[in-house]
Amino acid sequence: MAARPSNLPGTARRTRSTRVRALLGGAACTLAVVGTIAVVVPDASAAASTLGAAAAQSGRYFGTAIAAGRLNDSTYTNIAGREFNMVTAENEMKPDATEPNRGQFNFSSGDQIYNWATARGMKVRGHTLAWHSQQPGWMQSLSGSSLRQAMIDHINGVMAHYRGKLAYWDVVNEAFNEDGSRRNSNLQNTGNDWIEVAFRTARNADPSVKLCYNDYNIENWSYGKTQGVYNMIRDFKSRGVPIDCVGLQTHFTGGSSLPSSFQTTLSNFAALGVDVALTEVDVTNASTSQYAGLTQACVNVPRCVGITVWGVRDSDSWRSGESPLLFDGGGNKKGAYNSVLNVLNSASPTPTGTATASPTGSPTASPTTSPTASPTTGTARRIVGAQSGRCIDVPNGSTSNGTRVQLYDCNGQSNQSWTYTSGRQLTILGSLCLDAAGSGNGAAIQTYSCNGQSNQQWNVNSNGSITSVQSGRCLDVWSTSNGAQVQLWDCSGQANQRFSLS
Ligand code: G3I
Repeated sequence: MAARPSNLPGTARRTRSTRVRALLGGAACTLAVVGTIAVVVPDASAAASTLGAAAAQSGRYFGTAIAAGRLNDSTYTNIAGREFNMVTAENEMKPDATEPNRGQFNFSSGDQIYNWATARGMKVRGHTLAWHSQQPGWMQSLSGSSLRQAMIDHINGVMAHYRGKLAYWDVVNEAFNEDGSRRNSNLQNTGNDWIEVAFRTARNADPSVKLCYNDYNIENWSYGKTQGVYNMIRDFKSRGVPIDCVGLQTHFTGGSSLPSSFQTTLSNFAALGVDVALTEVDVTNASTSQYAGLTQACVNVPRCVGITVWGVRDSDSWRSGESPLLFDGGGNKKGAYNSVLNVLNSASPTPTGTATASPTGSPTASPTTSPTASPTTGTARRIVGAQSGRCIDVPNGSTSNGTRVQLYDCNGQSNQSWTYTSGRQLTILGSLCLDAAGSGNGAAIQTYSCNGQSNQQWNVNSNGSITSVQSGRCLDVWSTSNGAQVQLWDCSGQANQRFSLS
């Protein structure tokens, strides 16, 4: 899988103080004792001065669309290189750009952007593989099985070129109508399964990149289109169609401004087990309150991994007449820039927000913390960390008593398949149980032969926490990395203590 945004290089790295806080389970303490070492944790008072660095404090990224044709404009590149740590090619990785003639691929403009970004330590989001718009002429003239095959070939050809290099791919873009039905397009006319075929093809083509569905006007939870996309993602998750993320474009125009339900929408998508991101943000006249609000909604949701604005200066925008971006035509920071930066700087060091473990489909749902054992018993499930997206894993499938469990990329294998029993055990690999090796803060979480004792009993709570029946403490992870060990810690409500059984 692609590296987490918290592993961003250069200025995007977390400060030492925030890393230490994360190591301490996200607790807002100023003095802590780890083993025999006393650690003084500074207050998070030093505000970051760029969007990328500010977002990185809570493990997120802040990105922009980049146009290859503007990379010789030094005002543009100076701002972009300074402020952002994620880049999306505005047009250069779309089908008309990458496969102008069938079977003949052209990556010159896309690579120009990729090379510019990665030379500066930025990550790159691929945009987009299957879309009704910006198809090359030859593709527009196809239909039926030949178009289906052309789509598959296109995904394979483009993803082979960028294999292992990108953080995210917008696999499918804008496939829904406003009422939540499927958009009528030449791709839709190849059969309703075209979207899942695109995702399955993409997973095979590059298993390392996160695969996203991307659309506009899906920010308002009660809107038909939002529900249509949500239902598709839920269906994909339930049937094992590979999908990792949803991009909410967040183009707020006169007709669609920031909805009060935006955070609910993000939380409910995230609760399906996908990352969410704001992928193409621009707002009519750059309303400071709307920019602050959309940023706040993201930082309140643990799996909202980042925000991308759709261009650098107003003059670079596809909506330049509406001055919708964070820098004016002269490259000066606008009021909206400061409102976004302030919200990013006030975010908790580790992402916090609405619990995501118990989606209800209701815009007014309010998560609770009561145990919710019955819906999850009896079936083998993954235990996925809300902050990391990684699974609780028994290293190498060891069946030795005392094997300490860890976070690892989810792989669907038996050493990540947990069964929650009516006796509140989490069993794995036959007759092994998830077991707390002690009851205090920092106690190791391991596997051990099931014995029916309370240190092997767990409450799976609807706010995403998993608490030990013996101690009342929470499963907690120190970082989001592969190999991060799981321990017990006082429940804090932070994202590093939230999991979903999926
Ligand atoms: O490069 C040619 C230029 O040579 C030619 O003279 C000129 C004549 O019109 O066109 C130029 O290409 C334009 C291209 O942008 C580059 O500026 C296209 O006409 C124009 O259609 C294209 O618009 C892009 C649009 O997608 C097309 O759908 C915008 O730049 C781009 O910002 C926009 O991005 C989309 C996302 O991909 C998906 N979500 C919505 C978003 C906004 O529409």
